[in-house]
Amino acid sequence: MCDSQEAGEMTGEKVTVSLIKADVGGFPGHSTVREELKKEAEKRLKEARDAGLLIDYCVMNAGDDLQLLMSHRKGVDAEEIHKLAWDTFEAATKIAKELKLHGAGQDLLKDAFSGNIRGMGPGIAEMEFTERGSEPLVVFMMDKTEPGAFNLPIFRIFADPFNTAGLVIDPTMHQGFRFEIWDIKEHRRVFLDAPEEMHEILALIGAKSRYVIKRVFPKEGSPLPKDEPVAVISTEKLFFIAGKYIGKDDPVALVRAQSGLPALGEVLEPFARPFLVSGWMRGSHNGPIMPVPFKYSKCTRFDGPPRVLAAGFQISNGRLVGPADLFDDVAFEEARRRANEVANYMREHGPFEPHRLPLEEMEYTTLPDVLKKIESRFEKVD
Ligand code: F6R
Ligand code: MG
Ligand code: MG
Repeated sequence: MCDSQEAGEMTGEKVTVSLIKADVGGFPGHSTVREELKKEAEKRLKEARDAGLLIDYCVMNAGDDLQLLMSHRKGVDAEEIHKLAWDTFEAATKIAKELKLHGAGQDLLKDAFSGNIRGMGPGIAEMEFTERGSEPLVVFMMDKTEPGAFNLPIFRIFADPFNTAGLVIDPTMHQGFRFEIWDIKEHRRVFLDAPEEMHEILALIGAKSRYVIKRVFPKEGSPLPKDEPVAVISTEKLFFIAGKYIGKDDPVALVRAQSGLPALGEVLEPFARPFLVSGWMRGSHNGPIMPVPFKYSKCTRFDGPPRVLAAGFQISNGRLVGPADLFDDVAFEEARRRANEVANYMREHGPFEPHRLPLEEMEYTTLPDVLKKIESRFEKVD
């Protein structure tokens, strides 16, 4: 899966972690990623590491999404890194086409790479920061849902004292955190501080199909640099890019932990209660998010239910020491059981809201074509 090397000496240098993902073909249907695609990605990223472009990499999958985790010193939005990811997805697409995998190349919306992978279909979460003496990183990967699915857990991790004990009892976290929130419809953003503006934050992020948390920063009083993010979430919305429904924008996130940041267990804790997210079956249904180990990264029940994986790493001079399969723990079994129970309950609603999404959120699916067929039969009533 990954090719992480031995841990080395700490340097405190800046490192960039880039997680770039795309669905370039499912096997079978939209359930998972075929091994040949992961092998091809591993080969390409190994070449890039041998050539000195990457420090390290790890290839994973979340359901039908191929995940490329890369560490390097090129900073965010580096053309060489984005091109490497794009070329890797194209090479994997070629194999997906040969095998006639489902939806081969579906997330690659442009024909040619032009400088930056953002807006071209793949999802991306990347951040540059100064590596600490110990640098734990949690890589979250969701399938069959949307970027707003991270709003609730990220809020809980960095702003909810009932989740994160450190907000109350660790003096280096007492001041709270700053949230960068994007309005993905109007393409604008706002910075809001917790705990002072907690209610304003919730007013926005509770509307998760429109306002999404993009980054979280430390505040004055933190031992960490204020301008370096401690969490970042992918916010690409495929349907806003393509103008029509072509697939899902299953999101990913990078969250740093410990020593002035939420502890690993505080970062994972929000997933112990499976909350509802949208994006299940045909991107058109609400369902519970289920925290699963890697072995369950396969969406087969009604193409879901939506699920989240957590891969844990320690970064050592840019090396990705890991992954640890963090939801592979008996302590998350109750969350999975509960998610199954909620999934059954939601499924009982069949085509009815609130299992099915409201009409406005389905504008980009195939539903308008169905409505067109009966349009001429509507009569005016007074
Ligand atoms: C895709 C997804 C699936 C598909 C569904 C229909 O990520 O979540 O639920 O939307 O399987 O797929 P197509 O239109 O490819 O037959
Ligand atoms: Mg798919
Ligand atoms: Mg997917």
